[in-house]
Amino acid sequence: MRPPPPLTLALTACALLACRRPNPPAPQPDPDARPAAPASTPSPAVVTLPPADPNAPFPLHRALLQRKSVRDFDPAPLSQPQIAQLAWAAQGLVDPATSRRTAPSAGALYPLELYFVTPGGSFHYLPARHAMALHNAVDRRAELAHAAFDQACVRNAPFVVVIASVTDRTRAKYGDRAPRYAAIEAGHVAQNLLLEATALGLAGVPVGGFDDDLVRKAVGLAANEEPLYVVPIGAPRAR
Ligand SMILES: Cc1cc2nc3c(=O)[nH]c(=O)nc-3n(C[C@H](O)[C@H](O)[C@H](O)COP(=O)(O)O)c2cc1C
Repeated sequence: MRPPPPLTLALTACALLACRRPNPPAPQPDPDARPAAPASTPSPAVVTLPPADPNAPFPLHRALLQRKSVRDFDPAPLSQPQIAQLAWAAQGLVDPATSRRTAPSAGALYPLELYFVTPGGSFHYLPARHAMALHNAVDRRAELAHAAFDQACVRNAPFVVVIASVTDRTRAKYGDRAPRYAAIEAGHVAQNLLLEATALGLAGVPVGGFDDDLVRKAVGLAANEEPLYVVPIGAPRAR
């Protein structure tokens, strides 16, 4: 797929905030519903992502061969089509009838939540709507990098995915094995992200070295969301 010119998330976020109507219609039940943000933050605007292209040609074998950890990125923000493709590869629906997703999940209980930390703010991915809700409108990458023991790849990547788990969703059925299943699932999601990034001509690195509480604070995770993995992604910086 050939992505159109980049639209910066900063502009998107600002435009959404500026255009918000004073009296929004009553919200409809949302299959991605999660605990409300603290009262001090505005209710999130939602960015509907362009449809992902499941037929974009790139051989899986080539993605496996070319995937490698990259830690130095071009600072240019990703385009919405790029974000859409990455989001779909990570947790998008493949069958709306059953809500099955691109990554496997124990018991199809889907405990993982994805947050995109970008120069234009942080967004929460809503798989059922293939949309992302503005979570906070400030650039939290420096705070997130600090939480990851000051790893520069987190500070400098234009797009950082935080994979968090609401493990109680899985615990209800699988008890003490739930944390194991959630961690395994985060690995599936991260690999999908890294292979999709490779197919898009981007790259990333899976980051497991971070302080959980500081990541929670940087992203603004709910009390029941545990950060499992951080995946900075961008175009590799030309040398
Ligand atoms: C569980 C896990 C945690 C990792 N944590 C970090 C990290 O905190 N920082 C980092 O730069 N790379 C991290 N990596 C990336 C590895 O360093 C990298 O995968 C390894 O050097 C092999 O290189 P490759 O990914 O290019 O094949 C992590 C990888 C895994 C699987």
